[in-house]
Amino acid sequence: MDISRRGQTVQASPIRKFKPYADAAIADGVKIFFLNIGDPDIPTPKPILDAVRSFNDPILGYGPAQGFLELRQAIAGYFKDYGISLKADNVLITLGGSEAILMAFATVADPGDEIIIPEPFYTNYNGYASLAALKVVPLTLKVEDGFRLPPAEEFEAKITPRTRAIVLCSPNNPTGTVYTAEELGRVVKLAVKHNLFIIGDEVYKEFVYNGRRHISLLEFEEARDRVIVVDSISKRFSCCGARVGAAITRNDQVYAAMLKFAQARLCPPTIEQRAAIAAYKMGMGYFEPVRREYERRRDVLFEGLSAIPGVVVRKPEGAFYMSVRVPVRDTEKFVIWMLTDFRLDGQTVMVAPESGFYGTPGKGKDEIRAAYVLNEDDLRRALVVFRAGLEKYKATVEK
Ligand SMILES: Cc1ncc(COP(=O)(O)O)c(C=O)c1O
Repeated sequence: MDISRRGQTVQASPIRKFKPYADAAIADGVKIFFLNIGDPDIPTPKPILDAVRSFNDPILGYGPAQGFLELRQAIAGYFKDYGISLKADNVLITLGGSEAILMAFATVADPGDEIIIPEPFYTNYNGYASLAALKVVPLTLKVEDGFRLPPAEEFEAKITPRTRAIVLCSPNNPTGTVYTAEELGRVVKLAVKHNLFIIGDEVYKEFVYNGRRHISLLEFEEARDRVIVVDSISKRFSCCGARVGAAITRNDQVYAAMLKFAQARLCPPTIEQRAAIAAYKMGMGYFEPVRREYERRRDVLFEGLSAIPGVVVRKPEGAFYMSVRVPVRDTEKFVIWMLTDFRLDGQTVMVAPESGFYGTPGKGKDEIRAAYVLNEDDLRRALVVFRAGLEKYKATVEK
């Protein structure tokens, strides 16, 4: 008996699939610096943990499918602080931003339809496109061009009668690019011209550096009906395990469809929504010190990686990742070797190979994604270990 073709071909996450090698190394007493996953070491704020601990209802019951009104109002209030006007009924609470991606894909497109995504892109778009049976049409960006969005004609060359949406992630995972108003405006114009949806993944909204401001697709009045924003508290409040996100749209038809999908999975987690409400009560003052901390980490990792011969990297403008070209032929093999064979004083580093962040087969084989989610001291040490590993790999395995 065969399983579905989707089940057979769905991509394993390049962020997680080598974890068994890491677990084996840990069991051997090895210390691993985890730069493979965006799971920050910044402590989850106390009000969030307190809200979890103080849950004292007699029954841990279901909540509404669209999430608690108080949380949806809190999110609308948070966007208001950024000058974006939303109603609570534009906000649908999801199981992390992850479920918002799936809901958006399933709502705008039918099986076999196409979505255009600039690559490299957040790897799990591939997994969710498989789940929703959509075809990802990648548009390749290059480190040499700073991963900027290409001219409209390059997008138009990818549009077919089956194209339903363009997916933009800004600040970008894995490139760290923050799109300008002009770049976003270019895509908005295209979407209007070709009657497409735009799915805007903005889960790193707070993490923008060098004094720049994040611009949301929700700011484009002419795209009011076309935009679905993927939002999440995971990175915003350093609470990835809470699994609370949101799909945000001003298109009532889109919202109604997403709500029906949401009813099928009953409701988002009750206790974690309470924690999210407590998070938003902290106010906007919480973000600036955290943003500064990531900016410092970015500088440490960027300087360290840039100093390694043969490494090509560009300074990210936002989020907490770097897309890095390294002088090896196949970074999947390199990542495994780092976990199984390489130790420097009992330590090694785990990064994510980047080929799974592409839709084009064969691309990204000489690239990794590194996440600057560790404190500065750990990052500095991880750089020493990483560099020693890379040099040894080149001298012994790929000589
Ligand atoms: C760009 C992007 N979107 C969405 C997500 C989903 O995160 P979560 O489901 O924890 O909100 C992530 C997680 O790393 C991400 O990097």
